[in-house]
Amino acid sequence: MRFDLPTSWRHGRGFASQTAEVLRELGCSRTLLVTDRLLVEAGVVAPVTGSLDSQDIEYVVCDEVTTEPTVALFEGLVRTWDLAGFDSVLAVGGGSVIDAAKGLAVVAQFGGHIRDYAGFGTVPAPLGWKVVAVPTTAGTGSEISDGSVWIDEARHTKFLVLSTLICPTVAITDPLMTRSMPPHITANSGIDALTHAIESYLSVDASVATEPFSLRAIELIAGGLKRAHADGDDLDAREAVQLGSTMAMMAGMNAHMGLCHALAMPLCGLYPLPHSEACGLVLPHVLEFNAAAVGAKVTDVFRALGMDDGDDTDASPYERLERFVRELGLNASLGALGYLEEHLEVIVRETRNSVQFRFNPREASDEDLARLVDRLI
Ligand SMILES: [Fe+2]
Repeated sequence: MRFDLPTSWRHGRGFASQTAEVLRELGCSRTLLVTDRLLVEAGVVAPVTGSLDSQDIEYVVCDEVTTEPTVALFEGLVRTWDLAGFDSVLAVGGGSVIDAAKGLAVVAQFGGHIRDYAGFGTVPAPLGWKVVAVPTTAGTGSEISDGSVWIDEARHTKFLVLSTLICPTVAITDPLMTRSMPPHITANSGIDALTHAIESYLSVDASVATEPFSLRAIELIAGGLKRAHADGDDLDAREAVQLGSTMAMMAGMNAHMGLCHALAMPLCGLYPLPHSEACGLVLPHVLEFNAAAVGAKVTDVFRALGMDDGDDTDASPYERLERFVRELGLNASLGALGYLEEHLEVIVRETRNSVQFRFNPREASDEDLARLVDRLI
């Protein structure tokens, strides 16, 4: 077993306004603040910049990460910014912002192009920059994870920089920072986190160290997500989902994922389908498929979801989970997205090629995958 958790996690309401103290504690004096212009305009970043201003931390705002990080964005950023002038990067935003910040920290120290670091173990040594992440969404877990996802437009693919050396130095989770998330982003990011929690619990690499994080994360996310979606000012619900999201990735980065995340790779490549919606679409079906291989663990999952107690309908737990996802507004189907039979071959091949496929607890044949795809139409 191996269990890594290199990030120091600080959590609390209003904690973002102590970001400057955290940077001071790390010995930083000049930071590149990476964020998204829309968040700055909405005032979401203000508690962090207010903290930096009050403590005389020197910082420069780079607010250009407005979409998922792409190679073009990377090239633009390194052209614009002299990375040599900073000792740290402070990411304030969703997973895209945090992923971009991690990538910049790698290139600031080791040079080259972000493409050079695609894959596992390509970061040669610990980072010189301190990386502080203040997430404004609750879902990707990037604030503590070892991954940085990039889109390579020219090659029509995504690539992942994966190394425990790029885990943020400090993650600051503050429920007040997630308050501005609109309902659909709250729902989508929460379902991504729920999928991390469930897949990591059932993964072949799940261990005595990861399972408690996974199960508690399922409880927290399932308990808070509907309320956070219905009322964005419900801070108790926001906090539950946020804690669950970070804990899900503590398990996820150590136990890895499974067939949901493997299937999501080709589905998001073929259709205009966000990662989180792909997760929501496949999760109930993959869970039902995996049930045969995981024994009592599937009961643990439904107990943690609060869906093991019978229902006033005849719905199976899988149908209840599917309804839970749909009631959050995630209603994707491959049919509506333009599925054609000739796509099946690509979906099967690319699902098998995904790094997450081998961590799934049940071996899936081509026929199994075809049957699963059939249920998604
Ligand atoms: Fe995910």
